[in-house]
Amino acid sequence: MQKRYIMAPGPTAAAPEVLLKMAEPIMHHRSPQFSEILTKVRENLKWLFKTENDVFILASSGTGAMEASVVNLLSQGDTAIVVRGGKFGERWTELCETYGVNVINIDVPWGEAVDVSDVAKLLDENPDVKAVFVQAHETSTGVKHPVEELGSLLKDRETCLVVDAISAMGVYDIQTDAWGLDIVVSGSQKAFGLPPGLAMLSVSEKAWKLAEKATLPRYYFNLLKERKALAKQTTAFTSAVSLIIGLGEVLEDMKKMGHDNLFAHHRILAEATRAGITAMGLEIFAKVPSESITVVKAPDGIDGQEVVKMLREEFGITIAGGQAQLKGKIFRISHMGHLDQWDMIVALAAVERALNKLGHPVDFGKGVAAAEAYFAAH
Ligand SMILES: Cc1ncc(COP(=O)(O)O)c(C=O)c1O
Repeated sequence: MQKRYIMAPGPTAAAPEVLLKMAEPIMHHRSPQFSEILTKVRENLKWLFKTENDVFILASSGTGAMEASVVNLLSQGDTAIVVRGGKFGERWTELCETYGVNVINIDVPWGEAVDVSDVAKLLDENPDVKAVFVQAHETSTGVKHPVEELGSLLKDRETCLVVDAISAMGVYDIQTDAWGLDIVVSGSQKAFGLPPGLAMLSVSEKAWKLAEKATLPRYYFNLLKERKALAKQTTAFTSAVSLIIGLGEVLEDMKKMGHDNLFAHHRILAEATRAGITAMGLEIFAKVPSESITVVKAPDGIDGQEVVKMLREEFGITIAGGQAQLKGKIFRISHMGHLDQWDMIVALAAVERALNKLGHPVDFGKGVAAAEAYFAAH
């Protein structure tokens, strides 16, 4: 018998109540009953995003909303700044280049956060830049970028700030309006603990102004069309009804917890896990670590991919390895989705067992003890 755990940075574990809710008979997407649900979900998304802007729901993975941000804001030949400090920063560059947007990349060493003064300098040198693209949390490295400071930098400029918060929204505090974030993107399979398939994004007035002039080609991802549909309490195309119903459940639960408890939950899981990992004598990879995932440097002589493989194949626990240049060098444990403190203890115990089996010296229980002590104190 093997129990299976999913502790990857996405998709994440879903709560059984949410899965059951999504298993109810299909509702028609143009029915008044569904419109009511959709409107409530959008209101609750505004609560979560801390915004008065409209929040749109697309039937796509998170990358769809990233693409929607690029094609709705920009025109061919426009210039954008991209913070490129990992796999998902690279995605902004690839998306922009696909559509003929000129990109000025800020190459941030993987594992580090962007220096806001570098963005400020580039903006001064290139006043025609239409948008700055960044990750709130770069999931490939576990780093949090200083989104609030970037918001302050851009607040009084015409340049829009587009934030990929796919693995940040619902994990820690992202204050869309107070920080002046023009587009904020999110996805269902991370903190929401839902299956993959929904992307959500908020759009500010400043972003709409740019969208009204933008000429990049778009069809499904046309936010102006979505805005018209929203006024009629529907979506432009067939809504992903079951996922949206599941999202409604998750958002109600989040609201019951309240922002502070929701963020504290992730912070406690992350801090306990970091305490456990450090107590094992391992190092945290990210210089500015997030509450979303813990990224661990594989110790010398150990291939991080082997740790991931052993956890998955022998222990039934799915975590994630490194991507691209970090392949084999790190492994990543998620704190998102339907997880609690006991799951983190399981993950730490499994890492101890895997490292021992791979020949790394391990003092059994040291990591687990540090995490337990942290949990007991919080
Ligand atoms: C920060 C970030 N951006 C973008 C993506 C891509 O999202 P999706 O795979 O849902 O298209 C991910 C998913 O891992 C992510 O973590």
